[in-house]
Amino acid sequence: MDFEKLNQAAKLIRKAKYAVAFTGAGISVDSGIPPFRGENGLWNKVDPIFLEIEYFRKKPLQSWKKIKEIFYDSLGDTQPNIAHKILARMEERSFLESVITQNIDHLHQKAGSHYVYELHGTYKILVCTECSSEFDMSFADLNYLPPTCFICKGILKPDMVFFNEPIPPFALKRSFEEAKKADVMIIIGTNAEVLPAAEIPVVAKEHGAKIIEINIERTHFTNEITDIFLQGKASEIMKKIGELLYL
Ligand code: APR
Repeated sequence: MDFEKLNQAAKLIRKAKYAVAFTGAGISVDSGIPPFRGENGLWNKVDPIFLEIEYFRKKPLQSWKKIKEIFYDSLGDTQPNIAHKILARMEERSFLESVITQNIDHLHQKAGSHYVYELHGTYKILVCTECSSEFDMSFADLNYLPPTCFICKGILKPDMVFFNEPIPPFALKRSFEEAKKADVMIIIGTNAEVLPAAEIPVVAKEHGAKIIEINIERTHFTNEITDIFLQGKASEIMKKIGELLYL
């Protein structure tokens, strides 16, 4: 771990007027949630077709069986790790304004972050494909698939963004607004490939933000927009950042 760079990053955050975090699956790996890509990435083991919106509409039962296995059977007990907790403490101590996340695991909110923009939605909510009613997932008995709406009996869908579905307009709009206001953006655990999410740190950079990137390996952001690259696990790096900020 490069302590000189860690100190530089902590100094940037301390002096920041409007710091924003941008997170991907890598921040949740140390909570036991595999990333989507890379060595033990989810997409190496599972065909992403079950998360494609037309497939879901045609074969909701097959899609739900996979979704339940991959997300609902495991995410429920997953706990935020130190990286999520430090971001929440940074918000509490006004070192951080908001978190823009691509993750659907709800761990930022579980850790105590209040200003979280979920670009790819959340697994926590189920939405009716007929009447658009929304229910917390705890109301559904996922032993009976596909779950149906308590009002109109329509099929319920996780409120996650499926492939070929649009990004939630409010989250997208607010995320770009945050990026334009940021004078520091802390990018944690994303491979920077999926659009439009990957445009957000670029917009922050274009509007003058200093970019701190935390990842176990370099990404195309690293050479293109990153000012301080902190190579390592998000939980280890963020623990150190927390110590340097006396959180
Ligand atoms: N600490 C920090 N970074 C890590 C760690 C870790 N412990 N483990 C993995 N990483 C990094 C990887 O090097 C990679 O750059 O996290 C990134 C994970 O990349 P992806 O799995 O592609 O996750 P993400 O960038 O969030 O994917 C974006 O793609 O499939 C869609 O909707 C899905 O939201 C997801 C989107």
